[in-house]
Amino acid sequence: MADLTDPFGRRIEYLRVSVTDRCDLRCTYCMPKGFDGFEEPEDWLTFEELERVVAAFTRVGVRRVRLTGGEPLVRKDLPELVARLGALPGIEDLSLSTNAVRLARMAEPLKRAGIHRVNVSLDSLDPGRFAGVTGGGRLEKVLAGLEAARRVGLEPVKLNMVVMRGVNEDEVPAMVEFCLEHGYTLRLIETMPVGATGQAATSHYVDLQEVRARLAERYELVPAVMSGGGPARYVQVAGTDLKIGFITPLSQHFCETCNRVRLSVDGGLFLCLGQNDAIELRPLLRAGASDGDLDEALRGAIALKPERHEFREHPCQVVRFMSATGG
Ligand code: GTP
Ligand code: 5AD
Ligand code: SF4
Repeated sequence: MADLTDPFGRRIEYLRVSVTDRCDLRCTYCMPKGFDGFEEPEDWLTFEELERVVAAFTRVGVRRVRLTGGEPLVRKDLPELVARLGALPGIEDLSLSTNAVRLARMAEPLKRAGIHRVNVSLDSLDPGRFAGVTGGGRLEKVLAGLEAARRVGLEPVKLNMVVMRGVNEDEVPAMVEFCLEHGYTLRLIETMPVGATGQAATSHYVDLQEVRARLAERYELVPAVMSGGGPARYVQVAGTDLKIGFITPLSQHFCETCNRVRLSVDGGLFLCLGQNDAIELRPLLRAGASDGDLDEALRGAIALKPERHEFREHPCQVVRFMSATGG
């Protein structure tokens, strides 16, 4: 099997596919309030086009596919896309990153269609605070979504908490207890300065090395490994099944082991979360490119993958919103 290796010797084996740039929440660090500059439906890749692109990636060695958004559950008939992608040979890990607002009713059809596991954004367990961070989201819907995910076996369920100074930093222990109680994996994330909300995100930045040190005073933490292909570094709370992952793009970046690229809903292939470099696949797809042409385009794109993000040197240089490529 052919594989895709970039100029820095990194094997690309994980594709993040944004199936919509829309979202039913407005998290402060992700999309500005009142934003309405979304892609036009005629520019969205169709399920056929998405299937062609993902198939091309599997031919060059991609084994993991994650559906993201915006909020992926906002895209109509998502289980149909999942079934198509799940049927492609070579995909070993088919997952979803969601805010879980619509997961209570979607978990079962998604599981049936072939999603293996979900990562769920959850920054607060306090209904008022949750509404504040998400621009009016209802916590009880997310909790129902989480329960449904566990019930139908979309496991492991990983909770993504973006830790923000003065917003939810004090809730880390409560989140640990919640995950212990329910059997979820907890992942703590440093805010990244991306898009127009980047400035606001940075003002709440918390270095997770501090958070980890505080947790270590309360719990005995031992190094751990966890299934998944992302950048989290894990510890386990001794004597329990709880794993805690730290995603530290600023305090301890992980670009040397980067294994992924991102597809936006309109067919932009973004080569790094922290850079603007992209190639446009939609014109190719709509001009009747052959499979060979597509494979060649992917190889050409990977040759342009940047070495690393420059969030520290040039914060906010990424002009798209986080919602365009789903984190
Ligand atoms: P697993 O396969 O379960 O490990 O998934 P994941 O952690 O890769 O995916 P998820 O969508 O849950 O992302 C969690 C957080 O990690 C989000 O805040 C992402 O923005 C961030 N993240 C994921 N991939 C990258 C990356 O390549 N670079 C940076 N800087 N952040 C990333
Ligand atoms: N910084 C860090 N993480 C972010 N996410 C979205 N925007 C940002 C940001 N600016 C996270 C969401 C979600 C994941 C896919 O990306 O919380 O869990
Ligand atoms: Fe990869 Fe870019 Fe993320 Fe670094 S910031 S890990 S290079 S996508």
